[in-house]
Parts: sequence; structure tokens; C-alpha cells
Amino acid sequence: MYVVMNELHVPVEGRENVANRFAESSEKMKHVPGCLDFMFLNPEEDDNFQIVLTKWESKEDYEAWVNSDSFKHAHKKRRENLDKSPTSGNKIYEYHARHHL
Ligand code: HEM
Repeated sequence: MYVVMNELHVPVEGRENVANRFAESSEKMKHVPGCLDFMFLNPEEDDNFQIVLTKWESKEDYEAWVNSDSFKHAHKKRRENLDKSPTSGNKIYEYHARHHL
């Protein structure tokens, strides 16, 4: 299993807006080949960040999605929304799951 997390660096006041923009994403990610799970995580503490967590059958499935039109479409919307809620940055974490349920 391959796990990819995107940590979104958004000021506290912009986080509700960003969270709402992911409202339809579970439904969309359900239909992506090889995607086993999707979560949008809101932090308990303000000094931590919001995280997009995805789990994949393989690295290849993840890469196919990153190169797909649906990825491009989702992130095109992001650029259009930047003025409303700027993501000041982000950090991507990619992992091979060594042990899991
Ligand atoms: C390059 C930097 C990236 C930034 C700043 C970013 C930020 C965002 C934002 C703000 C959205 C919501 C789009 C909107 O409605 O406005 C979005 C969608 C999404 N992002 Fe990213 N993203 C990036 C790359 C990635 C990567 C590498 C992943 C891999 C885990 C990822 C996973 C997702 C998922 C699963 C969605 C929802 C897709 C959907 O609804 O179809 N993002 N991203």
C-alpha cells in the first residue's frame, strides 16, 4: 500500500473555506482506480495543519491519478479560489505502508 499526504499551510481564518472545498472529494475519490481511502483531516490544535490523506493500492495507481484529468480539474479549481483562501504553501509526504490492518 502507498500512502500520500498533503499538508496544507493555510492561515487559521482560511481553513473553514478550504475544508468546505473538499466537501465533494470523498465521492469523487471513490471512483478513482486504485484509491483505497481519502480523508480531509482538520487539526485538533491550531498550530498543526490540515492534511489530505490518501491511500493507494500501489505507487503506480497514485501516479496515474496525479497525471489524470480529474487531478488537473481539482487543482485548476484551487488556482481559481486562491484569492478567497490562499494556501500559503504545502508539503507532500509519500510513504510505503510496511504494516497495516
Ligand atoms: C502541489 C500542491 C498542492 C496543493 C497546494 C493542493 C491543494 C488543494 C486544494 C486547495 C484542493 C481543493 C480544490 C478546490 O476545490 O479549490 C485540492 C484538491 C485535492 N487535492 Fe490537492 N493540492 C496539491 C497537490 C496534491 C497532491 C500531491 C495530492 C496527493 C495526495 C493532493 C490531493 C488532493 C485531493 C485528493 C483533492 C480532492 C480531489 C477532488 O475533489 O477530486 N493534492 N488540493
